[in-house]
Amino acid sequence: MTNLQIFLDIATEAALAAGAVLQDYLGKLEDAITEKSRPGDLVTVADKASEEVILEVLRRHFPQHSILAEESGKLGNQDNEYLWAIDPLDGTTNYAHQYPAFAVSIGLLIDGVPQVGVIYDPVHNELFRAATGLGATRNRRSIKVSETSELSKSLLVTGFAYDRRETSDNNYAEFCHLTHLTQGVRRSGSAALDLAYVACGRVDGYWERGISPWDVVAGVILVQEAGGKVTAYDGTAFKIASGRILATNGKIHDNLSCELVEVPPLSSWK
Ligand code: IPD
Ligand code: CA
Ligand code: CA
Repeated sequence: MTNLQIFLDIATEAALAAGAVLQDYLGKLEDAITEKSRPGDLVTVADKASEEVILEVLRRHFPQHSILAEESGKLGNQDNEYLWAIDPLDGTTNYAHQYPAFAVSIGLLIDGVPQVGVIYDPVHNELFRAATGLGATRNRRSIKVSETSELSKSLLVTGFAYDRRETSDNNYAEFCHLTHLTQGVRRSGSAALDLAYVACGRVDGYWERGISPWDVVAGVILVQEAGGKVTAYDGTAFKIASGRILATNGKIHDNLSCELVEVPPLSSWK
């Protein structure tokens, strides 16, 4: 077995265990929901319990590896070439409202490059997995991106970061512009599922600003291994630190990129 296959299998073990924790707490949070950095940026006991389970599995198998986990921050030796990016509950707002769109996301960067990704949606029991050169799967069956080649026939998905009330760079203009140009733009509330859905062809493209590594590392490798494309908005190389991502089936990529860099201001709307 290759190292990547081993990493994939251990990440799967962690994601499934974490998903069971999320299922256990679902609908039972009562007062165990608090705000983090900003209004609306929630954290629950389920986020923390899920993260503990993931950390236990990864540390047991890979004690030398670096970790970046949403609720715990940087852990372990940060100089290691292997860095796990963990979102124990992507879609916390949905989860807190019992809206069934959330997932566990576990990605592995090797020398800064996303190479392994596992996204698990416990409500729908959907397990998305990918690793460099090993393809992308949903519940162990191969998946690929959609064939849609025209923006006017596409279905897109996006999201709005928690700083949206504090900046005019809040994705509202992009959302309106692309809603006019396509068959629709969804806002699922889980960046990990957005990327998984690009990978399996349910949506044709996804973009977002203000995202963190734990939101997207797993999803990036899923989209790439499913035959899609991931870049910055302008089509140049994707840089995690920028917080901006454009991920598509490849066929609509250039057109969507052009629209994202030429978005008319909201004030131009009638
Ligand atoms: C959020 C979700 C949401 C995205 C936000 C993320 P969280 O993650 O992925 O879809 O729009 O930018 O922060 O807080 O639920 O883990
Ligand atoms: Ca997240
Ligand atoms: Ca989260």
